[in-house]
Amino acid sequence: MSIKFQKVSYVYSQGSPLEKKGLDNVSFELKDNSFTAIIGHTGSGKSTLMQHFNALLKPTSGQIEIAGSLITPETTDKHLKKLRRHVSLVFQFPETQLFENTVLDDIAFGPKNFGYDSEKAKASAQMWLDRVGLPKDIANRSPFELSGGQMRRVAIAGVLAYEPEILCLDEPGVGLDPRARAKMMQLFFEYQKAGHTIILVTHNMDDVAEYADDVLVMEKGRLIKHDVPQKIFNDRSWLKEHYLDEPRASLFASQLTNYTFTDLPLTKKELIAGIKYNLRK
Ligand SMILES: Nc1ncnc2c1ncn2[C@@H]1O[C@H](COP(=O)(O)OP(=O)(O)OP(=O)(O)O)[C@@H](O)[C@H]1O
Ligand SMILES: [Mg+2]
Repeated sequence: MSIKFQKVSYVYSQGSPLEKKGLDNVSFELKDNSFTAIIGHTGSGKSTLMQHFNALLKPTSGQIEIAGSLITPETTDKHLKKLRRHVSLVFQFPETQLFENTVLDDIAFGPKNFGYDSEKAKASAQMWLDRVGLPKDIANRSPFELSGGQMRRVAIAGVLAYEPEILCLDEPGVGLDPRARAKMMQLFFEYQKAGHTIILVTHNMDDVAEYADDVLVMEKGRLIKHDVPQKIFNDRSWLKEHYLDEPRASLFASQLTNYTFTDLPLTKKELIAGIKYNLRK
């Protein structure tokens, strides 16, 4: 069951003086169990696109097939519970949505809401508390007593605890220190390897290179490229033309003018392997 967008356009405040096109005729298909990165400048339509995956926004025209649901301009909210069980959207600063008295209750809220009985919801919450790297003894504390990074992990555990098939993340690492961000990215990567689909909006090209197997590039509400990271980042002049950054590893490799690389290194690991190969020659 792939994800299929067909000629999706979205207009904010249609018919008012503030009318603004958020998405312009966007079509693509994503494979199940893929890790897709959505990149593009600020205001290019990434978050607008993201909110279509779980029908928080519905297309003004076009249609979307996702997780067994069809979303069209006519789709009404009462048809969306099943969709939202399978497709979860995590915004920037998800910790602002914590509200229960204890960490465990907060994580268990999602599973309960989607029909787990109380015991099963608690067991799942306990398991995910551990998997996101939080200490067991915070289970009964108030989520509001935690550090920012811990609160973010509680919020994400609350989504993972009902195991959505498709996890959509809109810049989830914003405001975290590099180590906490790397740990979180690793968690999402493991979630994908366990058989789920990840869609990630990010400005961090190192994360795209490291984790994504598919990339959508947005510009002014339009999808201007859909390809694997290797192809996107290999075309350095195209990236430059569109003012897009490249991963640090490929930037570094491009400065090593007397080295030859059969494939452009995108990650630190590939860069080290490429340098070792050149030194052995
Ligand atoms: N609620 C809204 N009402 C009107 N216009 C909006 C609204 N939200 C977004 N837009 C406009 O739609 C366009 C796309 O915005 P969007 O938030 O999807 O961009 P983005 O790529 O996520 O940017 P960023 O990287 O800054 O998060 C922008 O021009 C923005 O000003
Ligand atoms: Mg955004």
